[in-house]
Amino acid sequence: MNNNANESRIIQLTEFGDERGLLTVVEGSNTIPFEIKRVFYIYGTANGVNRGLHAHYKTRQLLVSVSGSCTISLDDTKRKKEVVLDSPSKALLLEPNDWHEMYNFTPDCVLLVLASHLYDSEDYIRDYSKFVEVYG
Ligand code: TYD
Repeated sequence: MNNNANESRIIQLTEFGDERGLLTVVEGSNTIPFEIKRVFYIYGTANGVNRGLHAHYKTRQLLVSVSGSCTISLDDTKRKKEVVLDSPSKALLLEPNDWHEMYNFTPDCVLLVLASHLYDSEDYIRDYSKFVEVYG
């Protein structure tokens, strides 16, 4: 998996559709390059709020806006990239060294996050200069 923020890490998830509607599956290592240990979702985000603003030491994540849309900026210390998540079948893979920020949440946005590790506050890098020291 390329670890460069300028390379697209959008994963197009398969939509199973019929006259009843649509269904999309994320199935552990069959769909994404890690086993899912944790699931959380961000919703009811107030207007103008930016979330994230951190990187990780170990945690890899897959982000899907299952309702509404939001924008994610990625920074790997060398390149910056913006991705709009606006479809339940469009997933963004975040590597540990992606400093990320989420914004432009629509009021109906539900941002689903699948993570490779259990929650550990020690796995967060929240200081940008520390991030550059570790990954620059
Ligand atoms: P926070 O890290 O502030 O979210 P973000 O920086 O991505 O916008 O998380 C908000 C709160 O939720 C914080 O008190 C930590 C807690 N939390 C957990 O307990 N477990 C988790 O898996 C996550 C992602 C957050």
